[in-house]
Amino acid sequence: MTAILAVDQGTSGTKALVHDGERTLSVVEVPVRPAYLDGGRVEVDPLDLLESVRQAGTRALREAGDPPLAAVSLANQGESVLAWDPMTGRPLSTVLVWQDGRAQDVCADLAEHADFVRRRTGLMLDPYFSAPKMAWLRRHATREGVVTTTDSWLVHQLTGAFVTDATTASRSLLLDLDEVAWDPDLLALFGLDDEALPRVVRCDEVVGGTSMFASRSGASRSGAEVPVAGLVVDQQAALVAERCLDPGLVKCTYGTGAFLLGATGERAARSAHGLTSSLAWSLRRSTGYCLDGQVYTAGSAVRWLVDLGLLSAPDALDAEAAGDSGGACFVPGLAGLAQPWWNPEPCGSFTGLGLATTPGRLIRAVVEGLAAQVATLAQAMSADIGVPLTRLRVDGGLTRSRALMQAQADLLQVPVDVYPSPHATALGTAALARLALDEELSLPAAIDVWSPARSFEPIWTERRAAEAMARWEQAARSAAARKDNP
Ligand code: G3P
Repeated sequence: MTAILAVDQGTSGTKALVHDGERTLSVVEVPVRPAYLDGGRVEVDPLDLLESVRQAGTRALREAGDPPLAAVSLANQGESVLAWDPMTGRPLSTVLVWQDGRAQDVCADLAEHADFVRRRTGLMLDPYFSAPKMAWLRRHATREGVVTTTDSWLVHQLTGAFVTDATTASRSLLLDLDEVAWDPDLLALFGLDDEALPRVVRCDEVVGGTSMFASRSGASRSGAEVPVAGLVVDQQAALVAERCLDPGLVKCTYGTGAFLLGATGERAARSAHGLTSSLAWSLRRSTGYCLDGQVYTAGSAVRWLVDLGLLSAPDALDAEAAGDSGGACFVPGLAGLAQPWWNPEPCGSFTGLGLATTPGRLIRAVVEGLAAQVATLAQAMSADIGVPLTRLRVDGGLTRSRALMQAQADLLQVPVDVYPSPHATALGTAALARLALDEELSLPAAIDVWSPARSFEPIWTERRAAEAMARWEQAARSAAARKDNP
């Protein structure tokens, strides 16, 4: 059977996975370290991203024994942007990562249009999304070339095409969510109406061919380029892999941030609780929408604990977390807070500290703070969908932490089912590439049926969970109210 090279280009690294339709043959991860700068700025060198894709893909193919490739697929970070020269492919700016808050002024200037923007796009007027950062680049960095999300640039490097997929476009604040088309009013609002825009493609569309990995791939032996297909936002790819295809099925991916997504069906929903609405997939046969909520710092909050010297390594979370936080409370607003506060300024906080607070208790407070924020998102999701959540599906690196997963089940008061592979995003994008290659294949048939590697049942009583949530929400409200951070 021919194989897919599935590339998951994430915030903290690129993962490449070779899958032959039945098994994963190899996985290679190449880390990328964004620079966390004052003023809530988060940047990464585009050439580091590209090199990580090249290296991860090449090594994964070599480790898989250079099988003949049917396609290369690509998941991307969603809202990270850069300027680049479409003639040469040369970057003209750094990548402003989705966590970057520098475009606050762009949003503040447009505040009176926030409701219109939300109705048209399903999103909040917030620097997390692509367009404010694109406008910032135009105001402060360069008028040259094009400004796009990272997927367009990477796909251009791979194939020469100038495209973005519909799910990524739906994270930009420039797409009419219902029409799935660039919106001239929104482009004018952000001052981007003169921009050359990438063509919006489906997730199951072949957008070109690549020889980036060809020197080592089976395809190169015949001199052929490998089709590139299965373009999608990483969160949406995980939603697909976890088979959250029907309304009411909800997943959370714990990566650099934590992202809760729930399918809403074939029409775009609008949240009454501050969640955002996007395309979940855009396929030849169907279009799916989802609601989503964000914790901007999950893995990066854990990494921050390591950088501060409070935790010895990200994997030591369970070993070094104390049994209780001793009243300490953590709000993961290190890169701002999204639903329902939407404060883009860094506003993370520890509260309730005393002389008995130890590093272990701070670590426990971080674990519970992450779980509490995901729980608030899940409650908002249930309220929007109108169906109580009965189980939560989860994936991502931090699901290795039993302490976090147990805290999640306790605070949310529903069982948590852990996806059996650490590579949901890559597997989701591989499934979309298979749809591109086989017109007869349906979305459910393209995705493996799975059962959880582990499930966590709530141990806390309902009352204990409600008290802990109330305490955390109060801390989050006061953290979000601070507007004077550097
Ligand atoms: O919205 C940003 C998100 O999609 C990034 O995902 O896996 O890099 O945390 P990740």
